[in-house]
Formats: sequence, C-alpha cells, structure tokens
Amino acid sequence: MASIDYTVRPRGPLSGTITVAGDKSISHRAVILGALARGRSEITGLLEGEDVLGTIAAFRALGVSIEGPHEGHLVVEGVGLYGLKAPVGPLDLGNSGTSMRLLAGLLSAQPFGTRLVGDESLMRRPMERVAAPLRAMGAVIETGEGGRPPLHIVGGRPLSGIEYRLPVASAQVKSAILLAGLYAKGRTTVIEPAPSRDHSERMLAGFGYPVTRDGATVSLEGGQGPLHSVCLDVPADLSSAAFFLVAASIVPGSSVRLKRVGINPTRRGVIDILQAMGAVIEQENETVASGEPVADLVVRAKPLRGIAIPPELVPLAIDEFPALFVAAACAEGVTTLRGAEELRVKESDRLAVMARGLAALGVAVEERPDGLTITGGGFRGGVIDSGGDHRIAMAFTVAGLRATAPLQVRDCRNVSTSFPGFVTCARAVGFDLETTAS
Ligand code: S3P
Repeated sequence: MASIDYTVRPRGPLSGTITVAGDKSISHRAVILGALARGRSEITGLLEGEDVLGTIAAFRALGVSIEGPHEGHLVVEGVGLYGLKAPVGPLDLGNSGTSMRLLAGLLSAQPFGTRLVGDESLMRRPMERVAAPLRAMGAVIETGEGGRPPLHIVGGRPLSGIEYRLPVASAQVKSAILLAGLYAKGRTTVIEPAPSRDHSERMLAGFGYPVTRDGATVSLEGGQGPLHSVCLDVPADLSSAAFFLVAASIVPGSSVRLKRVGINPTRRGVIDILQAMGAVIEQENETVASGEPVADLVVRAKPLRGIAIPPELVPLAIDEFPALFVAAACAEGVTTLRGAEELRVKESDRLAVMARGLAALGVAVEERPDGLTITGGGFRGGVIDSGGDHRIAMAFTVAGLRATAPLQVRDCRNVSTSFPGFVTCARAVGFDLETTAS
C-alpha cells in the first residue's frame, strides 16, 4: 500500500487552540461495551482512527448493527451479552493490539469459534500473555508460532473465574480477562504489579456492571449482567496530545491550548514526567465526562532538563515514550529510562527504532535492554524511518521543529491508526509540515 512521508522544517513559536483526536483506548472499549449492552448506545468524540474502525468492523462481522462514525458520532445497537453471532471469516484487526487482545477475552466466552489476524506488525506481537490466563479460565485458544497471532479461539467452553497475578502491568491483558470474566462462573480477580490504565473498570461501572477495586487489584463476579446502554462522550487522547505537549515545550516562545484532554490518573505519566523536566503545563476547565476526568491543557515553552524517569511512572506513560525521548534530546543534561522493556513489543521495538533514529540525527543515546539514556543537545536534519509505527512517526515530526535542517520522516501512513487529524492539528499550531506520497 502507498505510504506517506512527512517533511518538517524548523520554524518559529507554535500557538493556537486545538482538539486532538478522541481517546483510542476509551473508543475501543465504548464500541465493545456498547455492542454487549442491551439497546442503543450513543457515543460522541469517538476516535475515527483505523484501529477503532477495525474494532467496529469486527463487531459488525459479529452481527452488531452500528451506524457511523460520522464526525465522532457512533450509534451502536447493543445485542446484549449473549447476542453476538459467529462471523463468516477471520476477524482482521489491522495494526491494533488492543482490539486483538480485548476481543480474545470476549470471544473466548462465546458459543462459536473465531480466528483473529492482523497486519505485519500485529502478527509479530506477543499473544501468549493473554492466551495463558484465558486458558486457565477454561478457554481453548491456539496461538501461532512463538505465541504470536493468528489466534484461533475454539469457543463453546464454559469459563470459570480465576485469580490472576499479571507478571507485567497490562491494561490489555487485564481487560481481556475481565471481559471473559463477565461470562465466567464465580469471581475473576486480576492483580497487577502496578496499576495500568483503568478505562475498562470505569466503563463497566458506567454500563451498570459491578466491579470491585482495591489499588492494583480488580475483580468482578460473572453473570451479573445485563449491561445497560449509555450515552458516552470520549475525551481527547492524552497520548495524541503528548506530541503537542512536547512540541510546545521545546520550541521557544510557544503557547498551545489542548481542549478536553483525558487526564485519568492512570494515564497522566507524560504530564508528570514533563513537569519534572521543567515543562509548564497547566490544567484548566477540569471536569468529568462519562466517568473520565478531562481538562484543557495549556503548555508554554520552557527549557527542559534531563531526569531519571521514576520507574513507577513507566506504566502510566507507556505510549508516550517516543515523544518523551524527543523532549529528552532537547533537554539540558541526561535523561534515563529503565524498566521499560515493554516498549520492545509495541507497534515496533520502540527502544531500538527511537535509539537508531535519534543517533542518526546526532543525539548521544545509549540503548539498554530495558531503556535508553539520552544526553540532550538537539538534532540535525536528515531522513528517518518510522518503522511503520504511528507514534514514532509523530515523535520525529516533532523533533523536526528543533532540527538544524529539514527532517523527512518516512512511512507515516500508520499515523491514521491513532490520530488521523495529526497533520491538520500540527499545521493549525504552526508546524511547517509537508506530506508526500511514497
Ligand atoms: C492499551 C494498553 C497499553 C497501551 C496500548 C493501549 C489499552 O498496552 O500500550 O496502546 O487500550 O488497553 P498494554 O496493556 O499492553 O501495556
């Protein structure tokens, strides 16, 4: 498929007010729980990125009638917990690990079998982490070679609740187990080493399903349905806002307002890390939308300093490290990240691809198995390959604002998986950004 390259040229201060794309994690869950509820759910602010469109297509294939999305508005005619139908063929979930893992949990509990596949990147990602606990609940799931997709879920097996201790904090695995737990006999409990994003727990409660939480432990009792349909407003995605938090911090004189961004405490690591580096980020108009805290974020440029990133913030900022590495490369001094080996199994190996790209731009970077050490100093221009990873493509586009010459970022097509309006938002605040088909 044809790709897109971005060329960004350094220029003056960024300014303006933008609303970035809807939250990807919340959008997936809204579609899933909307489909499982009884009756019509209306969702606004939905992310119309390819990942979420993939989840929508999967539920249509499972017999759910869904209207939209039109400008973030989606109407889901929920079929109830027991109303899904066998799909005709395999479900193709594209680039989306969240879709595949969450659906693995839900589909393990259905009376029919399914096969889950994805694009080249998703077909390389680890799935045993989700298959193993689901098997312990009684599911029959086959993974492909090395525990990777395709997933073949046999279905028609009665599930029992378990108490499962996650080796690594993971909202996707936790959510898959909880979705299977809705159908399991007895109680399902997930214990994480540290809390991961809790959108599933919040949203299940919003749909009227009782969930018990205590620190990093979450449980629910099977068979307590139905889920009740809702009207749900999805906040803007802090993971997409992160690129602008970094951009406005590193371009002197900038001031940008990001509207209605989700600031859930289990997601806000990027704000805390940037503030520890000296960034000026203020929260205004704080409110709660559909059970999620939101605020306008106002960010003003300020010289950053390198820090040792506190390990407890790693799961709370797991998707924001590509952007944070760019901030580190512009900061004075050394930034160290440890305990982040999970970054190697995201849409790309984010430690390797970021280290390679930063080094190519003249940044002093040291790669370790579980993190990077970056010495700030700025970038030269050049050509960088995103590795087909949306967040790496956007991170290097931001780096181009501070490069000493034009920076071309290759293979940016997948930006549309999470942030289809990225180029429009970037230009709106003053990026000099050109796109070319390649
Ligand atoms: C997500 C959880 C995180 C994150 C991913 C979205 C979710 O993955 O990296 O982009 O929506 O649950 P893990 O749960 O694997 O850490």
